Amino acid sequence: MHINSKSNIKLDEEKSLEIFAGVIAHEFNNLLSGIQAWAQIGEKEKDENNIRKAFKSINEACYKGTILVKSLLNFSKSQELDITTTNINDLLDETINLLAIQLEKKNITIEKNYSTIQNIMIDKGKIYQVFLNLLINARDAIEDRGGCIKISTSVKDKLLEVSFSDNGKGISKENLRNIFKPFYSTKDKHRGTLGTGLGLSISRDIIRHHRGEILVESAEGKGTTFYIVLPMEQSFPLVG
Ligand SMILES: Nc1ncnc2c1ncn2[C@@H]1O[C@H](COP(=O)(O)OP(=O)(O)OP(=O)(O)O)[C@@H](O)[C@H]1O
Ligand SMILES: [Mg+2]
Repeated sequence: MHINSKSNIKLDEEKSLEIFAGVIAHEFNNLLSGIQAWAQIGEKEKDENNIRKAFKSINEACYKGTILVKSLLNFSKSQELDITTTNINDLLDETINLLAIQLEKKNITIEKNYSTIQNIMIDKGKIYQVFLNLLINARDAIEDRGGCIKISTSVKDKLLEVSFSDNGKGISKENLRNIFKPFYSTKDKHRGTLGTGLGLSISRDIIRHHRGEILVESAEGKGTTFYIVLPMEQSFPLVG
């Protein structure tokens, strides 16, 4: 079932979309000017090693561009939901399985606390994307010390709650204000955890299109919990 949901964008979010478009344009300009500079060097250069270096840099810039386009496509496609009946606990297990080997290598244990949940009507692919981002964020927050991620599901008052709780580095009060902004990322490429900073802004967009909400609680040095709240009964079509 394909459902076109009109976006329920409030004024402040319109502003953030404007900033988003501006940042995308800016990022692309940076990438293009980098590619152009390396192409000019490659054109004039005689030394084979330097030519190879130029090609390598062009290749890297193209890779970054591809990631940017993918994120942009996800963002613009997020208006359209492909709704199917889904078992939320199974979907969480699929997400955990995808990262199982990586989590084990980093000494991160997963503690599941699932309630029996009746099937729910959601866009499975998009909600999977949200779970994956939350799990990866929790993994990265734990860094190299090892730790635990607790994943819980429950239903109260016809609302489904899924929570991801980690004992990682936490988020400062100041940063908490920024984490849902497009392109806000504290991830460091030298640690191998480079992020685009789009994960949470896209996730919030997806959850809101399901008439839900995503909330966060964090204490610096102690850990972070993200809560996803979704109505168990959706009324279709989902028009904001
Ligand atoms: N569980 C968490 N613990 C600590 N900080 C977090 C956690 N989740 C998110 N953050 C902070 O919020 C920022 C934004 O997260 P978001 O998922 O939007 O982007 P990202 O993970 O940096 O990049 P991307 O998701 O695009 O790969 C992160 O860079 C990090 O600073
Ligand atoms: Mg992320």
